[in-house]
Amino acid sequence: MADALFIKTLKGEKTQRPPVWFMRQAGRVLPSYLKMREQYSFEELMHSPKLAAKVTLLPVFELGVDAAILFTDILVIPAALGMNLTFTDSGPRFEKALKDMSNPMSVLKPDASKLEYIYDVIDEVHKTGSSDIPLIGFCGAPFTTLCYMVQGLGTNHTFPDAVALLYKNKAMAHKLLATITELSIEYALKQVKHGISAFQIFETHAGLIPSDLYFDMIMPYVRKISAAVRKTGCPVIFLPKGLGTGIEHISPEDADFLSIDWQTPLEEARRMINPEIGIQGNLDPRLLLADKDIILETLEKYVPFGTNNQNWIFNLGHGFIPGIPFENAKLVVDWIKQTNWKRS
Ligand code: CP3
Repeated sequence: MADALFIKTLKGEKTQRPPVWFMRQAGRVLPSYLKMREQYSFEELMHSPKLAAKVTLLPVFELGVDAAILFTDILVIPAALGMNLTFTDSGPRFEKALKDMSNPMSVLKPDASKLEYIYDVIDEVHKTGSSDIPLIGFCGAPFTTLCYMVQGLGTNHTFPDAVALLYKNKAMAHKLLATITELSIEYALKQVKHGISAFQIFETHAGLIPSDLYFDMIMPYVRKISAAVRKTGCPVIFLPKGLGTGIEHISPEDADFLSIDWQTPLEEARRMINPEIGIQGNLDPRLLLADKDIILETLEKYVPFGTNNQNWIFNLGHGFIPGIPFENAKLVVDWIKQTNWKRS
């Protein structure tokens, strides 16, 4: 495992090429996953350790990526806090949204035992997969998790009530964020105990709020999760999507690697971010809807960055979207493996 390219890069060791994995690599682009979905619902797949472990490993075997990510969802935390969750065809939906409650704290009943099946998935991955495959664990960052809890559904990506809560009732927002953080830390540490190789914190909706508000109100909670995980020696990757120029305020204590969205060119991100922090990213997933020659032309632009930067993990700026042809995802992985990165 120590020889795995992904692990070496996380440790700051030299390699001949950047490692590659994709956010949302397990669903959506894999014909084998879509076939399993004809038979099972997303929740059935997620709740069966055998099936979830199988789906976790599919992208490693079929796309050839250098790491697997645990097949589960960030919304397992609200579910373990007592919120009734279903995944519909149009996205996740909570039975009752916190925005409709006079005292949201009263409905939250943290029950860590509701997360136990996820550790069984990790054990199952280790049992069935080759021990050489790095496994990434994850959780949602507290603000992104709060967005879904307050709004109640995942289709309105502007989450107006969740954002307004930060301004209207700061004390309540802090209580909710603290509750999410506490359970997330327990969840993260259990994942580490069961043998994940790295931990990613998904702040998908960082771009919804001003970055000074983000650092004032939200970042302290992210830091708590990150510090707890990093203390164990497990590296942390932080994805603050849409944080913009705020990335320059992330310190090496906050994260080992920062996942950059497609908006900021990697060279610019590199100049802005503390040199001790590695970079992950940042291909626009929608490029993969284009023709092969257009994709390859864009990929070539990454070569100089890859030559000069060892502490880089190739990924998307955000996750795969439905409709991306499997061949185009595979093209990216093959291209990364075949390219001469001119590293000495
Ligand atoms: O493949 C992987 O990346 C591993 C598993 C994973 C899923 N969700 C599975 C999933 C991970 C890491 C996530 C994270 C997640 N989930 C985030 C943060 C990262 C991101 O991509 O923004 C968020 C915001 C969620 C919440 C969520 N889950 C939404 C909004 C949706 C519906 C919309 C959509 O993108 O499909 C989901 C469903 C979901 N989570 C699916 C998968 C494979 C689709 C389920 C299906 O229909 O098969």
